[in-house]
Amino acid sequence: MTTESRLTMTLGETMFTQRAIRRFRPEPIPDAELQDILEAAIRAPNGGNTQPWHFLVIRDPDLRTKLAELYREAWWAKRRDQGIMGPQDIPPGKNTMRSAMRLADQIGQAPVMVLLCATSQGPAAAASIIPAAQNLLLAARAFGVGGTITTLHADVDDRVHELLGIPAEAQVVYCLPLGYPRGTFGSVQRKALSEVCSYERWGGS
Ligand SMILES: Cc1cc2nc3c(=O)[nH]c(=O)nc-3n(C[C@H](O)[C@H](O)[C@H](O)COP(=O)(O)O)c2cc1C
Repeated sequence: MTTESRLTMTLGETMFTQRAIRRFRPEPIPDAELQDILEAAIRAPNGGNTQPWHFLVIRDPDLRTKLAELYREAWWAKRRDQGIMGPQDIPPGKNTMRSAMRLADQIGQAPVMVLLCATSQGPAAAASIIPAAQNLLLAARAFGVGGTITTLHADVDDRVHELLGIPAEAQVVYCLPLGYPRGTFGSVQRKALSEVCSYERWGGS
């Protein structure tokens, strides 16, 4: 059997239930499923088919713990840049930010962390990582595995490179925890299409 034939969840169900999962059960992801998820990621569109990516998969508990500490620091560095110095500064109603804050405390519980790296610096290479991240998340969803796209921060960049032996010319674009969700995927909630789409001219029907 191939990866393609193992991805049997319908495209509709996969796309409409692929949510940001931030709470994980401790069970490991079987190697074969992880392999399939990564095989899907590398099928993604990318600039000129240059495939300027490297997927760094971290399962080792000690490395995950160290990366999780850096992740937490990065998350709060991003908030500090927004003037948010602690949980008390998170405005009421910012539920996604509160969930993300909890993830910053708990990301080490995810059995797998994937750093989606571009093999060179700059926005062009980084842009090719975006479709790969989505392919990866969709394939993960099809296997019942959850995760979410997250970013790091310049404050921790050198230490992340050093911890994981990432070459200086490569950039970490996303840090993606993966695991079986605590709770369910639920359905994706978005604005109505009519609010974000027009035909022929911006603002038309
Ligand atoms: C570019 C990008 C950066 C993101 N960064 C974070 C992050 O740092 N932490 C986090 O918990 N979620 C992060 N997310 C996930 C979003 O919060 C999530 O996709 C959004 O809230 C929609 O959630 P839903 O798909 O569950 O409806 C990011 C998503 C994208 C596309």
